[in-house]
Amino acid sequence: MLNTDTTITNVHGRRVWDSRGRPTVEVEVTLAGGAKGRAIAPAGASTGTGEALDLRDGGTAFGGLDVQKALSGVNSEIASALKSVDATEQAKIDSLLVELDGTPNRSRLGGNAIVATSMAVLHASAAACGQPLWHYLAGGQPVRIPLPEIQIFGGGAHAARRVDVQDFMLMCPSASSFSEALEWTAEVYRAAGELMKKAGKLQGVADEGGYWPAFGCNEDALDTLVGAIELAGLKPGGQVGISLDIAASEFGRNGQYTLALDGRTLDTAQMIEMLGRWLGTYPILSIEDPVAEDDASGFRHFTETYGKLCQIIGDDYLVTNAARVKTAAFQHTLNAVLIKPNQAGTITETRLSLEEGKLAGFGTIVSARSGESEDVTIAHLSVGWDAGQLKVGSFSRSERMAKWNEVLRIEESLGRDAKFSGWSALPFQRRQS
Ligand code: PGA
Ligand code: ZN
Repeated sequence: MLNTDTTITNVHGRRVWDSRGRPTVEVEVTLAGGAKGRAIAPAGASTGTGEALDLRDGGTAFGGLDVQKALSGVNSEIASALKSVDATEQAKIDSLLVELDGTPNRSRLGGNAIVATSMAVLHASAAACGQPLWHYLAGGQPVRIPLPEIQIFGGGAHAARRVDVQDFMLMCPSASSFSEALEWTAEVYRAAGELMKKAGKLQGVADEGGYWPAFGCNEDALDTLVGAIELAGLKPGGQVGISLDIAASEFGRNGQYTLALDGRTLDTAQMIEMLGRWLGTYPILSIEDPVAEDDASGFRHFTETYGKLCQIIGDDYLVTNAARVKTAAFQHTLNAVLIKPNQAGTITETRLSLEEGKLAGFGTIVSARSGESEDVTIAHLSVGWDAGQLKVGSFSRSERMAKWNEVLRIEESLGRDAKFSGWSALPFQRRQS
């Protein structure tokens, strides 16, 4: 039951700074009853070409990345359009924002201005209802605590292309709870650090807080990850698995993929063969963007061959676009979708993409960006929408830990009713090991 007036009285945009020390947009929405909601736009580095565009000022200040234009849109046009609208009418507000922008890719007002506003409205509504955001979103439907995908090594565009693969992550579907999955990950993260130190390869952390991969090749990273799992006293495959984000659009197009380390060029078939070899050698449960965003037939071929063994996620390929998810389901090009609110543009469009994914029986993974902040909205989306999985980056740096810690709080608040998604989140049958 609403206990306060949910009419929007004020929308205020301010500049804050993200985890890469770059300017970003924060929006604060105030309602007539006094409730407030606040949200910060994240930013990607390996962006898909079809995603909503951030509005940046250009010029020389802060490398051209300032957001004054986006903020002035929030504080003038957006603020006057939303004044007196009921904040609980999220879909209406989101289509108002889309219409006001008037471009297909949010380039006029900025994806950063629009997503921060949309999320801030959502926070204000939940606050007015006196409910935690996840609870407000669940609307009484059952939810699961998500299976985390946690980065141990960063690579690709997040680590100056030191290795090709962008994320080497850990997945703990056999853990009994989210908190146990984090305990296992903490041990593996520590063990991986020890192994790298011993090998003289510890060189700080990449964009999302995973270790900077001073490895000779992708396989070195995979071997070290398996070694770290064992050193942590866990069983690779049986208890924990590996998840990779290949982010292949970063090094491939037109069916040609150029590897960073030796400059070798692979065609799509060779790329798929290489990944197939990894699948046969390492306990890999999930692969994101195995081929480039322009390679639909490569996706289909990969999924036909390996879709029963592993989760195959579209990120750059689907850009959280409901129509693209629907087509992918129809054409069987993959079996999972990454859900990033700032790719879609608004909360309503994000939810639509997720629902489309669920309808197709896909794995659905709510995801952070490489440029993040203390904002924990995605932690709530992953629980409240029962996405089943959450990808936030590594197990260090507070813009990442803020999200993991928020899910811990939610899990604790549910007590005995907390249900960890584990294997149920993955879109393929568990292999016996
Ligand atoms: P980005 O990368 O936020 O830099 O785009 C994250 C991902 O590819 O999943
Ligand atoms: Zn990705």
